Amino acid sequence: MARSIETLSVHAGEPRDKAHDSLVTPLIMATAYPFENTDELHRYFRGEHQRTEEYGRYGNPTQEVAEAKLAALDGGEAALLTSTGMSAIVTTLLAMVKPGLHIVITADSYRKTRVFVREFLAKFGVEHTSCEPSVAGIAAAITPKTRLIITESPTNPYLNCIDLEELAKLAKAQRIKTLIDATLATPYNLNPLSYGIDLVIHSATKYLGGHNDLMAGVVVGRTDLIQAIRDHQGMFGALASPFTAYMLIRGLKTFAVRMRHHNESGLRIAGFLEQHPKVERVWYPGLASHPAHAIAARQMRGFGGLVSFTVKGDLPAGSRMIDACEIPYLAPSLGGPESLIEQPALMSYYDKTPAELVTLGIHPNLIRMSVGLEGADDLIADLDQALAKV
Ligand SMILES: Cc1ncc(COP(=O)(O)O)c(C=O)c1O
Repeated sequence: MARSIETLSVHAGEPRDKAHDSLVTPLIMATAYPFENTDELHRYFRGEHQRTEEYGRYGNPTQEVAEAKLAALDGGEAALLTSTGMSAIVTTLLAMVKPGLHIVITADSYRKTRVFVREFLAKFGVEHTSCEPSVAGIAAAITPKTRLIITESPTNPYLNCIDLEELAKLAKAQRIKTLIDATLATPYNLNPLSYGIDLVIHSATKYLGGHNDLMAGVVVGRTDLIQAIRDHQGMFGALASPFTAYMLIRGLKTFAVRMRHHNESGLRIAGFLEQHPKVERVWYPGLASHPAHAIAARQMRGFGGLVSFTVKGDLPAGSRMIDACEIPYLAPSLGGPESLIEQPALMSYYDKTPAELVTLGIHPNLIRMSVGLEGADDLIADLDQALAKV
């Protein structure tokens, strides 16, 4: 019988018998792994010896366990752990592209991913088209040179969701690889690989680590694709430390339990905000009012802890509300126990002029909240008193 995500979160990837009879996966900090003799070394390089470790930049035993757990959670053959979500994206793209090839990327993908494609890859002759985040938008952007489609589901900050089954069908018919950044969904709420998507990426800094205290990234997919990316990681060296891998395994033990709480509180808070007289509009894929609600309801188990909304008023009105909050911290990031709140116009897009914000579709009065693990009633009471300051 297939095991539940709760059981996988606790046990997947971890051998029953661990070194020193330890109950938990040991943290192994070694940077090199000695060979018994030259014969063992010969057998290792010929692939005749079971050992996988050699030198720290090519991986370590704690990383391997974290990778096996993450692969199991996403239902993938293999996973590669990286130092950050961005290094997962950069290492994966550098392993997959070559000059002359064309990428389709959706316009509301994570800003730094877009910058990497637009400004860095372009310098090496990799072309791209940025398009509206829908299967129709992606289909219209495909050219005969397109070999890769990059998108997110849900996106940030408007939580748009893409129909992944349709997207995989479209891409496979034209032999194009698909890459989904599912950081906001997490493997608890969405399994892109089950719809035929080739690779799924997460910033493990967020819900997977889950405690606002580690940075990591992961890419999951078929063994051959992951191995090609791993070979590049061995060259670039953007690994998570063994300690980070250990912390990630520890954080993942409670992953499913945490996600259930994030989902429940996210939905309740989105519902509360939607009926609040000081709130103009709410974006949360679990609400019937969200344009992608039907897609989200079909392909997601829950809708996560990220809620975006505009307050009635201008940018300072939003700032007044945020400054009046007593529980959420004013900070970037998401996915941890502490609720975080911010105005994208004053965080990710601080460098943009009001005119540029309009072009980018970032409302000045937009607020993004990462609903944490506090009691939902406490958060609702806090948001209610803060909205009175708008
Ligand atoms: C959707 C998404 N992808 C990727 C990243 C980058 O992850 P990291 O900060 O771990 O490099 C982030 C970070 O905010 C994100 O929100």
